[in-house]
Amino acid sequence: LPVASFDGVVFGATGDLTMRKLLPALYHRFRDRQFPASSRIIAAARTELDSDAFRSRAEAALRQHVDPASLDGELLQDFLGLVQYQTVDALGPQGWPELVATLRERPDQVQAFYLATSPDLYGPICHRLAEHGGLNALSRVVLEKPIGRDLASARAINNAVGEVLPERQIFRIDHYLGKETVQNLMALRFANPIFERLWHADIIDHVQITVAETVGVEGRGGYYDRSGALRDMVQNHMLQLLCLLAMESPISLDTDAVRDEKLKVLRALQRVEPHEVNACTVRGQYAAGVAEGRPVASYLTDLGAPESLTETFVALKMQVNSWRWAGVPFYLRTGKRLPRKMSEIVVQFRTPPFSIFPRDQHDLQPNRLLIRLQPAEGMRLEMMTKEPGPGGLHLRPTGLDISFEKAFGQRYPDAYERLLMDVVRGNTTLFMRRDEVEAAWNWVEPILQGWSERRDAPRPYLAGSWGPTAAIAMIERDGRTWYESFD
Ligand code: BG6
Repeated sequence: LPVASFDGVVFGATGDLTMRKLLPALYHRFRDRQFPASSRIIAAARTELDSDAFRSRAEAALRQHVDPASLDGELLQDFLGLVQYQTVDALGPQGWPELVATLRERPDQVQAFYLATSPDLYGPICHRLAEHGGLNALSRVVLEKPIGRDLASARAINNAVGEVLPERQIFRIDHYLGKETVQNLMALRFANPIFERLWHADIIDHVQITVAETVGVEGRGGYYDRSGALRDMVQNHMLQLLCLLAMESPISLDTDAVRDEKLKVLRALQRVEPHEVNACTVRGQYAAGVAEGRPVASYLTDLGAPESLTETFVALKMQVNSWRWAGVPFYLRTGKRLPRKMSEIVVQFRTPPFSIFPRDQHDLQPNRLLIRLQPAEGMRLEMMTKEPGPGGLHLRPTGLDISFEKAFGQRYPDAYERLLMDVVRGNTTLFMRRDEVEAAWNWVEPILQGWSERRDAPRPYLAGSWGPTAAIAMIERDGRTWYESFD
């Protein structure tokens, strides 16, 4: 449903996220008439620019990041007409009175402040807005990840923002929650009783979650080197996926009902004590190799530094301590410069307790439910079937497939499109509550501590490979194997 007119203020408007994701997302929503032309987009950053100069940058970014088939010249100009620019210094006095005066022209509008800046600025920006009288009951503040770099810094940010805004006006974004297939996890689990009945340690052997990327650090080295894969991908996106997979049924779709259940999963995660990190985690860093069909440099070369202990790959073995999941390992892996861009969940079921098919003649594969988040969103249930033909009984795995593109045949809105409109609607369900973010850091922290105590260098892996062999060994020690599935 379309939303009502709003004022959107983007801090960090000259940055990569705004140009690559936020402006294209807003453009698409505008093109699909999901918000009215009376809305305003106020771009704010420290750079001295006027609105015309910013609009030219915005236009160039849209031409680069929006599919040309969706770029209609007249609509593009109408969209750019909604955009104005205000120079604002987050830490100094410049620009605040002007920004707030612009907002006061329309006091009855929903105001969405998107903080696409460094997390150190979240507290200061919110406080400046409050001091200048720029916040009211219709204000919403969107905080990009990462919320801090450990539990203490996350708490400090949450405290600073919480001093000027109530929790219901704070939207901590995790764009994975806006992805279609991620939202589909709720439909899969709670609208289809056949799966929910199977969702149990008695039937499920283990779960794998892979988020693989082919890109390297792409000029984001300054940020990335202080983060690494665990902070950048696991603390947020991958733990959120795990929560949706592992949580109990919420009592309703109400925002707190869903978030309460996710929080319980985070609290039930078995702590990896610092001395256990070698058994349950593998860190890697890409060396030069071949990715996306061309030779690519190592992480250190991309970073321009002689050394770094930052991991660009991590694999983890995790346990959820609950009746439902006792004894079912969750294996997670994510990395840059892997062979394919692919995010996928594999739920592997137990093998039959007894087989009437002689083992030396039949390779019985376990049933697997594959949930492909990207690309080519879909699901597949792998089952053993008889090969057709009169030549005897030969079994082989076959898939029951759902391709979302074939089923629904339409463009999928980018995750940010859905989430930005949810901000305007005031719906926090797909955003992280303060306690979730802190519980996730609380689980991650002993691992970070264990790594830093050991000071082991991450294991090198060739760009274009599936990460260090130790990640394969970690799962194979348990008699299992990473599963790469359908295309
Ligand atoms: C971001 C990370 O949150 O997610 C990036 O900071 C990563 O390092 C990106 O590349 C992956 O998102 P997607 O939607 O391309 O899977």
